[in-house]
Amino acid sequence: MNIDLIPAPVRAGDQGRCGFLLDASTTLAAAPGTGTTERWLRETLGAAFGVPLAPGGEGAEHSVRLLIDPALEPEEYRLTTLPGNSVVITGGSPAGVFWGAQTLRQLLGPQAFRRAPAGGAAPAALGFTDIEDRPRFGWRGMMLDVSRHFLPKADVLRYLDLLAAHKLNVFHFHLTDDQGWRVEIKRYPRLTEVGAWRSRTKYGHRASELWDETPHGGYYTQDDIREIVAYAAEQHIRVVPEIDIPGHSQAAISAYPELGNTDVVDTAALTVWDTWGVNPNVLAPTDHTLRFFEGVFEEILELFPAATSPFVHIGGDECPKDQWKQSPAAQARIKELGLAGEDELQSWFIRHFDNWLTARGRRLIGWDEILEGGLADGAAVSSWRGYAGGIAAAEAGHDVVMCPEQQVYLDHRQHGGPDEPMPIGYVRTLEDVYRFEPVPPALGEEAARHVLGAQANVWTEVMQNRSRVDYQVFPRLAAFAEVAWSALPAPADRDFAEFEGRMATHYGRLDALGVDYRPPGGPLPWQRRPGVLGRPIEGAPPNV
Ligand code: ACM
Repeated sequence: MNIDLIPAPVRAGDQGRCGFLLDASTTLAAAPGTGTTERWLRETLGAAFGVPLAPGGEGAEHSVRLLIDPALEPEEYRLTTLPGNSVVITGGSPAGVFWGAQTLRQLLGPQAFRRAPAGGAAPAALGFTDIEDRPRFGWRGMMLDVSRHFLPKADVLRYLDLLAAHKLNVFHFHLTDDQGWRVEIKRYPRLTEVGAWRSRTKYGHRASELWDETPHGGYYTQDDIREIVAYAAEQHIRVVPEIDIPGHSQAAISAYPELGNTDVVDTAALTVWDTWGVNPNVLAPTDHTLRFFEGVFEEILELFPAATSPFVHIGGDECPKDQWKQSPAAQARIKELGLAGEDELQSWFIRHFDNWLTARGRRLIGWDEILEGGLADGAAVSSWRGYAGGIAAAEAGHDVVMCPEQQVYLDHRQHGGPDEPMPIGYVRTLEDVYRFEPVPPALGEEAARHVLGAQANVWTEVMQNRSRVDYQVFPRLAAFAEVAWSALPAPADRDFAEFEGRMATHYGRLDALGVDYRPPGGPLPWQRRPGVLGRPIEGAPPNV
């Protein structure tokens, strides 16, 4: 039997006599604590096969049984078929049970990924199966940038489904940037009244001459956010909200001009940015700015509870220091605080929010620039400019999420051919992502323990809608998921051909889910964007 699981499990035995048949008589016996998976199985398998999965007793034949065994690691599970057409999933915690159920769905074939039976409710079968599985990393993430292009709530919920289907458990939600503020903050309504939309948008790379003259925007109400967070929790996904400061802040400054360096630029004349790149309009290092963002974070902490959002991301990337150099007010601040210069001013800014978040029981995480001028105590780092920041941080005892742009930025083109839509950055194929190694060999054993895991990042400058996001993300997210979950050998020893063989089945699952992935043979005609300038680069950062 070829079970073609992605990500690959630790061990899968398929010898034996008893299989499992899912049909209208199959019951679902859910032990206490397994309610999320019970609901999810009814919603997904119940709908796909048109079966009720009625509640059943533990010893019943024809059943799916869900159990918790605390002797297993929290995200570990066992999935075993039993005599009597039954299957039992035992997890070390509710999360482990849920990952086991995701495996069951894959085992039941691509039709298990549909919302209703295609061609009549049919029974689904699996042969004898005995799977033992656990993740390599506790942080298996994807970052989605909903600022550059807004993704409606329904698309965000769908992405949570897609993460869960690949056993990914962290959703890094990039909610603010120069091009749009996407979360309702009750005490500052202009953040969304003004900051959530722009009148036009650069179409393609910033050097492109094309503009999309359609107004673009959107934001999530606080109830939308609560729904997204609750939906993620149902799927055992933690959400890391990101409010990017002190750079990438033009949308906020255009809503509240006093947040900017008013002694350097006429911030009242700024609008939400309509093009791409690193923006010079950064926050002013004033007490007013600190109080303002404390107000923002107060609402963020309320929307993203500690249980499912222990980490809060404060960005910290790409903050040009030019305005601080020119600003008498910023220079006076540097003097008053006894700082060595603008880098230390950035560090002071980050430390302020590190202390503020720590006092409220949360942990700060930021892009690796937060290392400049001294890393805040207890802060964790998203290492994006390669491995170096992550290595330095881990060696200094800080926790790290590895997401180097050279390997796992999914906005980068996935083929060197002329048909890639709006090609940006490096060529990073499915195989390249499959050979990504989150723990660089240079790290000693002690420092390596600080690598919490890995994350694929999806920046959406050239992704105007869900379909474009799908194209960039898939199939590469499947390879990334296997890297983050499965205990793969060293990159050069990974059997990519074997993975590709399993992908043949996985494409059928993605088809059933309606994912607009890049086909192995290249983009379909309607996935191309002829004439829209990208910025293909060999060997240099893309800096879109
Ligand atoms: C980043 O890509 N600027 C984190």
